[in-house]
Amino acid sequence: MLPDDRFLVQNYGRQPVCFVRGEGSRLWDDQGREYLDAFAGVAVSALGHAHPRLTATIARQAATLVHVSNHYHIREQADLAATLARQAGFPARVLFCNTGTEANECAYKAVRLWANVVHGGGKPRMLAFTGSFHGRTMGALSLTHTAKYREPFAPLLPCEFLPFGDLAAAEAAFDAGVAGVIIEPVQGESGVHPTPPGFLAGLRRLCDRHQALLVVDEIQTGMARTGRPFAWQHDGAIPDIMTLAKGLGGGLPIGAAVMGEAVAALIKPGLHGTTFGGNPLACAAAQVVADTVLDPAFCAAVATKGERLMAGLRRLFGAGAVRGRGLLVGVQLDSDPSALVAAARTHGLVVGPAGGNTLRLAPPLTVSDGDLDEMVARLGRAKAG
Ligand SMILES: Cc1ncc(COP(=O)(O)O)c(C=O)c1O
Repeated sequence: MLPDDRFLVQNYGRQPVCFVRGEGSRLWDDQGREYLDAFAGVAVSALGHAHPRLTATIARQAATLVHVSNHYHIREQADLAATLARQAGFPARVLFCNTGTEANECAYKAVRLWANVVHGGGKPRMLAFTGSFHGRTMGALSLTHTAKYREPFAPLLPCEFLPFGDLAAAEAAFDAGVAGVIIEPVQGESGVHPTPPGFLAGLRRLCDRHQALLVVDEIQTGMARTGRPFAWQHDGAIPDIMTLAKGLGGGLPIGAAVMGEAVAALIKPGLHGTTFGGNPLACAAAQVVADTVLDPAFCAAVATKGERLMAGLRRLFGAGAVRGRGLLVGVQLDSDPSALVAAARTHGLVVGPAGGNTLRLAPPLTVSDGDLDEMVARLGRAKAG
């Protein structure tokens, strides 16, 4: 029997299943049924479920110190910041928070602060793209394009939306009034759409020309999900700020805004903060994830596994229907993916929906080749009905 949800706010359309246990790329429900997990809690469980080193670290840290607050120095936080800043590939500092939306909230505030302090407020414009998803809090929601998420909560903060992937349109829209632009290197929620090659690099050039900040939202794509530590590296377009969450904590809630030194220097004590952000438990977990997934050999393996998964899906759905990068993959369907998501579940496979009639697969980055092949086989059986 499913849990009695009547005291929960009904803000989620939940599938009729209750998972109670996981191991690697497998989940079990409360009836003891086994599933292959090709969704990883929306690209979160990067190391899979019950990963031995992650589990042991969480248990040890929980038994040692869970929380102290940012009134004090936190060794685990400083160590994780050093790891991420070193990997960022640009001189950076890190501000920790708890979720993706908070990381983007921080990025938006940093853009405004930079425009106000460095440019005397003379840069009122913030740009984002059609199809974008940056989160649900008011700032991040203002940068999110999808009308059904935005409109019930209007009025929102200023943001202009440019056509995704259209560099000429971006070129025409940019001027000295632009403070910043935010982009997902692969749009996840709207249907797994990678930016066209050269698009991020083009935005970088426009930002340099007009003295604007490039914010890259790596919340779904970061931490090796696309086969590079961060997806902007496919295009070599170094951001001014990149935001992380989802895979960063391997399942513990943690987000981060990784920002260039010049922007970071503007955020003085007291100007921004959070009670929980970067607590010892979340940071200890994220350190295990970072040490594992940011390794070049691990990233290369993710890229190879992504090719294997996409090849299998292309055999099932046709070459033109499958797109993605690394282990963030979308399959274009003709209709809403919910029927196939449900059918997959009855065949022991967890997959998810995305916008625009897209089926989304984002398995744990540690998934084996055998499990990838079995995921494709189960999806094939679900598709056949
Ligand atoms: C690209 C991107 N940005 C931001 C968010 C918001 O993250 P969170 O749900 O942790 O607030 C998401 C979540 O799906 C996302 O995919």
